[in-house]
Amino acid sequence: MKILITGGTHGMGKGVAKILAGIDNQIHEVIILCRSKELGESLIKEFKNTTLNKKISIILCDLAKLSDVKKAINEIQSKHKFLDGIFINAGLGYAAKRVETEDGMDSHFQVNYLSQFMLTLNLLNLLEKSKSGGRIIFNATEGGRISWDDIQMKNKWGYEEGIHQAMAAKLMFLTKLHNLHKNIKNSKLSFIGFQISKTVWSNQINIIPTFMRIIATIMKFFGTFISIEKCGEIMTPLFTENQEESLKKSGKFIIWKNNKFVDIKEDANILNPNLQDRLWEISLKLCADEKTTQISKSLYNNR
Ligand SMILES: NC(=O)c1ccc[n+]([C@@H]2O[C@H](COP(=O)([O-])OP(=O)(O)OC[C@H]3O[C@@H](n4cnc5c(N)ncnc54)[C@H](OP(=O)(O)O)[C@@H]3O)[C@@H](O)[C@H]2O)c1
Repeated sequence: MKILITGGTHGMGKGVAKILAGIDNQIHEVIILCRSKELGESLIKEFKNTTLNKKISIILCDLAKLSDVKKAINEIQSKHKFLDGIFINAGLGYAAKRVETEDGMDSHFQVNYLSQFMLTLNLLNLLEKSKSGGRIIFNATEGGRISWDDIQMKNKWGYEEGIHQAMAAKLMFLTKLHNLHKNIKNSKLSFIGFQISKTVWSNQINIIPTFMRIIATIMKFFGTFISIEKCGEIMTPLFTENQEESLKKSGKFIIWKNNKFVDIKEDANILNPNLQDRLWEISLKLCADEKTTQISKSLYNNR
């Protein structure tokens, strides 16, 4: 399988990348989309040494910049004839204050959702060329809501609200993608929302304030956290399973419990097609990219 992972330099993305690179006699190819050349290159070295897999590469992209996303899309399209899977994972976590991107958006909204909305739509053609059934796994958590009157959170901001709004947006996006593809003849793509059941000991620990780090360290002692490798072990089957199994999960939001994937009941707002369309329209406008708009039109026309 050839899998693109956003945010593969730390945390859950790194865990999935590391396990994928090491299993099945190193047959899987891993492409890591990351914002730091230095970190990306040291990761290639680390994975080549620890997993012996030579098929590891990076694509540079700061998801806080739509111009970077466009460049990354072009680079991926020029270097790769197909993709078997994408892990939509990169995300900002803790932040002390609201940061506006150069595109004038709330960072959590743009990094965790909008840039990856644009990336996803522009890479669907590569997934369609997969011989194993292209799949996109969206890292998400339940309970988020869209602040329709203030999506950029200019009036009322909180980092947790920002994270959860992006999670809700990702879930609405994947449900819409699934529903649009259901009506496309012979479509073999699956779109799956995944929630991790235990907190992963990720790079967030190095970013959060000291008092939160102390509490987390105590909680770690009581087994509250799992390692990034354990997270990778839980998640990799979603990337390597056959097309039939993947298609059965498409459009669903799942969690790993009692050694199996089980469905999570979704919020009515997430499943509401009118709200999904509303968010899609807003997202397209914010991307302001002709190519992305054309891809969207062709998806809607195929209904
Ligand atoms: N940890 C958990 O238990 C947990 C639970 C549920 C959901 N999640 C979600 O999982 C996702 C990953 O979280 P994590 O805990 O694994 O966090 P993490 O260790 O902080 O990793 C975040 C990843 O996203 C990348 N990233 C952040 N901003 C970026 C940008 N502007 N452009 C490109 N890449 C960027 C980071 O790159 P750098 O290495 O350059 O910083 C890093 O690779 C987040 O969406 C988080 O909300 C995590």
